[in-house]
Amino acid sequence: MEGPLALVTGASRGIGAAIAAELARRGAAVVCAARGREALAATVAELGASGHRVRALPLDVADPAALPAALAALADFETELGPVEWLVNNAGIALSAPLARGTDEQGRDLYERHLAVNFHGPRRLLEALLPGFLARRRGRVLNVASSAGLVGYAYVSAYCASKHALIGYTRAAALELEAKGLAVGALCPHYVDSPMLAASVRNVVQKTGQSEAQARAFFAAQNPSGALVTPQEVALAAAEWLATGGNGELIELRGRGERRILR
Ligand SMILES: NC(=O)c1ccc[n+]([C@@H]2O[C@H](COP(=O)([O-])OP(=O)(O)OC[C@H]3O[C@@H](n4cnc5c(N)ncnc54)[C@H](OP(=O)(O)O)[C@@H]3O)[C@@H](O)[C@H]2O)c1
Repeated sequence: MEGPLALVTGASRGIGAAIAAELARRGAAVVCAARGREALAATVAELGASGHRVRALPLDVADPAALPAALAALADFETELGPVEWLVNNAGIALSAPLARGTDEQGRDLYERHLAVNFHGPRRLLEALLPGFLARRRGRVLNVASSAGLVGYAYVSAYCASKHALIGYTRAAALELEAKGLAVGALCPHYVDSPMLAASVRNVVQKTGQSEAQARAFFAAQNPSGALVTPQEVALAAAEWLATGGNGELIELRGRGERRILR
């Protein structure tokens, strides 16, 4: 049996690439979206070489003007692979700065940047796919939020604000879609061993003079289990929720395979 079509954003590396691979391994067709075309093409080529039904969709989720062309390309994939039934809003950014500095090195507003990618990206894709989901009474949306959507962390206030916004949106959407046969949920991983974490480690090394091993140990020690979450742990939780998870579930991933379901 051929599985449903999933759209996974931020699928060129890290958690998104692991989710795309796990869904494909379980028989889903997967459209992988991200900005960087080369990395995206490499990830899709690798999955395609294993016989999986995967396609690349270059897309900046923060750019509303890019959405119509991306949806047109997605419609072409749907003709071939069937309608999108699963949306995984995984693309995200995390930049650190003290509270007194609300801008990045180019002077751009950090809060606007985080909200554009981590909140407006997911809600715009949900809005775009919702009419089809409602018409077919089939559709599941999984937002990859973060433990930073449940608690605060110092020096990443813009990231925390954007992930809290995504969790609030997930809760509201779940209530609204409850009676319509659709489901919305969120993953809330603690620190995950991905390229995003590698960038944070480099930042800590640069700012504090700690070794790379010390910086990694610092992040692992923040997690409730004392270990970094692996991208594969997140991918398994994503695949399981998409198959059978409950509407409105927030799945906290604590490392070492520990999960807690919240609402
Ligand atoms: N790593 C952690 O510790 C951790 C913990 C909890 C939650 N999360 C969340 O998990 C998700 C994935 O994180 P990760 O650790 O895998 O990050 P990552 O290694 O930096 O990968 C991020 C992915 O998102 C894509 N992306 C970034 N901005 C985008 C945009 N504007 N439009 C489309 N794609 C975009 C990237 O590709 P391009 O740059 O080429 O677009 C890449 O494919 C994020 O939402 C993150 O907040 C991460």
